[in-house]
Amino acid sequence: MIKDSMEFTINLTTVGMARATDWAGVKSGRDINKWEMTGLTPVKGEKVACPYIKESPLSIECRVKEIIKLGTHDMFIAEVINILAEEAFIDSDSGAFRLDKAGLLAYSHGAYYELGKEVGRFGWSVKKKK
Ligand SMILES: Cc1cc2nc3c(=O)[nH]c(=O)nc-3n(C[C@H](O)[C@H](O)[C@H](O)COP(=O)(O)O)c2cc1C
Repeated sequence: MIKDSMEFTINLTTVGMARATDWAGVKSGRDINKWEMTGLTPVKGEKVACPYIKESPLSIECRVKEIIKLGTHDMFIAEVINILAEEAFIDSDSGAFRLDKAGLLAYSHGAYYELGKEVGRFGWSVKKKK
C-alpha cells in the first residue's frame, strides 16, 4: 500500500564522501544514526517531507507511485518532484551538470571509482571530418 508520505531523496555522492557512502551502505539505520556517524548533514527537503544530504552535489526529490513486489525485493517506481544541484557544477551557458568537475562516485563489482573524464561528444563518431 502506498501512503501519501512515501517520499525519498536520491543523493549522488563524491570521492570526498566515499568513506561515508560505503559506511552508510553497509550499516542499518535501524541500529545507529547514520547522520551522526558519517558527519553528513541533513537538510529539510524543499518539496518532499524527507531530508536530502547537504554535501551531495545533486539531490533528487522523489514521490513513490507504485511498489512492485519481486519476491526477494520490492521495486519502487517514483516520480521526480524536484532536483537540487550545486550551483558551482552547473554550466552557466548550457545549464548542464558538469560531470568533469563534480568528482562523482561510481560503484561497480565491489569497488568505487571517480567519474569525470570526458571521452567524446554525442554524435561525434558519425561526424564528417573537416
Ligand atoms: C555500494 C553499495 C551498493 C548498494 N546497492 C544496493 C542496491 O542496489 N539495492 C539495495 O537494496 N541495497 C543496496 N545496498 C545495501 C543498502 O545500502 C543497505 O541495505 C542499506 O544501507 C541498509 O540500511 P537501512 O537499514 O538503514 O536502510 C548497497 C550497499 C552498498 C555499500
